[in-house]
Amino acid sequence: MHPMLNIAVRAARNAGKVITRSMEQLDKVEVESKGTNDFVTSVDIAAEQTIIETIRKSYPEHTIIGEESGVLTGSDDNIQWIIDPLDGTTNFVKGIPHFAVSIAIKVKGKLDQAVVFDPIRAELFTASRGKGAQLNGMRIRVNSQKELAGTLLATGFPYKSKQHSNAYMAMFASLFQKTADMRRAGSAALDLAYVAAGRVDGFFEIGLKPWDTAAGELLVIEAGGLVTDLSGGHNHTQSGNIVASNSRLLKEILKDVRPHLGTALS
Ligand code: IPD
Ligand code: CA
Ligand code: CA
Repeated sequence: MHPMLNIAVRAARNAGKVITRSMEQLDKVEVESKGTNDFVTSVDIAAEQTIIETIRKSYPEHTIIGEESGVLTGSDDNIQWIIDPLDGTTNFVKGIPHFAVSIAIKVKGKLDQAVVFDPIRAELFTASRGKGAQLNGMRIRVNSQKELAGTLLATGFPYKSKQHSNAYMAMFASLFQKTADMRRAGSAALDLAYVAAGRVDGFFEIGLKPWDTAAGELLVIEAGGLVTDLSGGHNHTQSGNIVASNSRLLKEILKDVRPHLGTALS
């Protein structure tokens, strides 16, 4: 395993322990609002702190971008760690056991290493640039389904940006007519990991942040899939609007998404 991936895995497992321990005493968890329908808990912050400490022990010079801490610039800005300490906070707060720790490493702006860890199921999704993607050490691949008929797509609702509800619902309705079913499970990092593992055939969501998608994107790519924005371009990290699938099915998904983009989305 790549030495940086090794540390990322250690950090994700440490954060996972913080999260599962707190789940046993959910009533003690402090919840604060940081925006419309956007919550942060004492556990998000403690998990992020644990991850940062683990990274800092081995790589004090690297830059860290954490959802809760912002940018912690190191002397070596060529290597950036992008962290979501708890992806699926709404599930966690409600006691729904579906969330993950997401850690990606970029080297000179390119995704290089990725970890998405589900501490409840002890599922560790990892990827290294050019070396494929794994689930608990076993190689995973995206599905090869070419048409929407019979597919299961994952998605997320734009609950933090409800101005996009109508456009989103139009895309959903159009796709729902053609697919077998849809899942809104509540963790974008796991949605992408599930695309990589072939558990779902594709994923689309609008308004995501870099820490929601960075690790999942490398998992999908290394599992043989493709990640684009809603126009089929490469602006998804900036826009937060994302589609992931195998390249053939992704084109089919875009056909139902594009007509509803309007001016605010791309
Ligand atoms: C959220 C989850 C959710 C997605 C949201 C994300 P958080 O992350 O990934 O599935 O729909 O847009 O912000 O806030 O729980 O880290
Ligand atoms: Ca997130
Ligand atoms: Ca989070």
